[in-house]
Amino acid sequence: MAYETILVDIADGIATVTLNRPEVLNALNGQVFNELGDVALELGADRSVQAVIITGGDKVFAAGADIKQMANLSTVDAAIGGRPSHRAFSLIETIPKPVIASIAGFALGGGCELTLVCDVRIAADSAQFGLPEIKLGILPGAGGTQRLPRLIGAGKAKELIFSGDFINADEALRVGLVNKVVPADQLREETLKMAKRFAARGAVALHLAKSAIDEGLRMDLEAGMQYEHKCFSLLFATEDQKEGMRAFIEKRPPDFKGR
Ligand code: CAA
Repeated sequence: MAYETILVDIADGIATVTLNRPEVLNALNGQVFNELGDVALELGADRSVQAVIITGGDKVFAAGADIKQMANLSTVDAAIGGRPSHRAFSLIETIPKPVIASIAGFALGGGCELTLVCDVRIAADSAQFGLPEIKLGILPGAGGTQRLPRLIGAGKAKELIFSGDFINADEALRVGLVNKVVPADQLREETLKMAKRFAARGAVALHLAKSAIDEGLRMDLEAGMQYEHKCFSLLFATEDQKEGMRAFIEKRPPDFKGR
């Protein structure tokens, strides 16, 4: 599929999606959301893709939803116009393979919210995170009030959302917003390294492990345990399970086929 606001590169089973509106610090307009949703569907269904990286490149991740596009919206427009971000983010969140956010520079508002729908976040030491919507007289409208407290706890999320203040990469690591901080010039390499580590695992086990975690977080513990058990049992029907255990016994690395 041809995209105008994002770049898509697939190499060695790793897809990299790069936001590409540098003139506005990768601000997310309706077209970006639509294209992100479409590419999530495309990459999710592509069996040759084993892991996905979402990035804004070396300088900036994304400075949020496009304020110029939002400035004159009516309530009705906002109610309807809010949907592309929800569609995009829920399609990214449910890509049945690992999705890594690779973040340099600003990840603000909708940009920060985009990182929250990824499974893992790697930040360059240049990264800055914030939900500054409150300074615009609105609130985070693409999952920030829901996903951020689930990730870092309500107290810290409220501090960030009520103040609109930015935090740097080290503080983001400290509060659990990112998994790892690396020097800016090593961001690409470190992200690829992690993507390749994930991609070397069995695709079906990865998919079901992701599903068990994400679905389980919406359930009480007992229901989550039941769901985990179903996912666990199902994996014994895969060739990868036979191969993984045979490889262990034969003292060699497994050769997973994703089936
Ligand atoms: N929307 C539209 N344009 C944006 C933008 C945004 N979110 N962020 C930056 N830009 C544009 C600027 O207007 C500017 O364009 P011009 O050159 O045409 O003036 C260009 O990108 C460069 O930006 P700055 O000159 O402002 O760059 P800076 O380095 O001085 O400041 C910044 C960087 C601190 C990130 C500042 O641009 C900023 O505060 N941006 C807005 C951040 C924000 O409030 N994000 C939340 C948006 S609302 C949202 O995301 C809602 C939601 O929940 C979905």
